[in-house]
Amino acid sequence: MSTPDTDGMNFHTRKWIRPEDLNANGTLFGGSLLKWIDEEAAIYAIIQLGNYRVVTKLISEINFQASAVQGDLVEMGLIATHFGRTSLTMRAVVRNMITRKTILTIEKIVFVSIGDDGVPSPHGYDSITYKRDRMPTQHSATGTIRLP
Ligand SMILES: CC(C)(COP(=O)(O)OP(=O)(O)OC[C@H]1O[C@@H](n2cnc3c(N)ncnc32)[C@H](O)[C@@H]1OP(=O)(O)O)[C@@H](O)C(=O)NCCC(=O)NCCS
Repeated sequence: MSTPDTDGMNFHTRKWIRPEDLNANGTLFGGSLLKWIDEEAAIYAIIQLGNYRVVTKLISEINFQASAVQGDLVEMGLIATHFGRTSLTMRAVVRNMITRKTILTIEKIVFVSIGDDGVPSPHGYDSITYKRDRMPTQHSATGTIRLP
């Protein structure tokens, strides 16, 4: 099993695996993991693109390499790999902090920045920020947006 490239990757969020995160085999349910990653990627995209209105466009092949059991600690890492005009592409790695094994890798997670009209909107960035300098300064607007 190869070790994924985690250079420059930030592992921010950690999860403690609870009974409700398990599948019928008693191991980590993949759906829970994908929900956590999607949320993590959304927050990462908001910080990078300075826009609360970001949506998941694409999640590429997901390679589940190892699992976790109740009580394990897992950590999620993301890094931006491409800034498009309206999109941001990220790579994800999830590791088991106890066994030190890689749980999964996702080569491409694409989020799109959209405007109040629901249409893709240029974000104007081409490199990673490690600060909070692009964060919107107003609360996230709630309510339904009509996507194209
Ligand atoms: C996201 C959405 C607004 C984009 O609409 P669209 O008509 O594809 O828009 P565009 O063709 O202008 O593409 C927008 C960006 O997405 C990228 N994109 C589109 N399809 C893509 C694909 N299959 N893979 C990777 N990137 C893609 C484009 O390259 C473009 O990026 P760029 O501006 O950086 O070059 C639309 O697809 C949508 O509403 N999807 C549903 C999103 C959603 O609800 N997600 C939550 C999960 S249910």
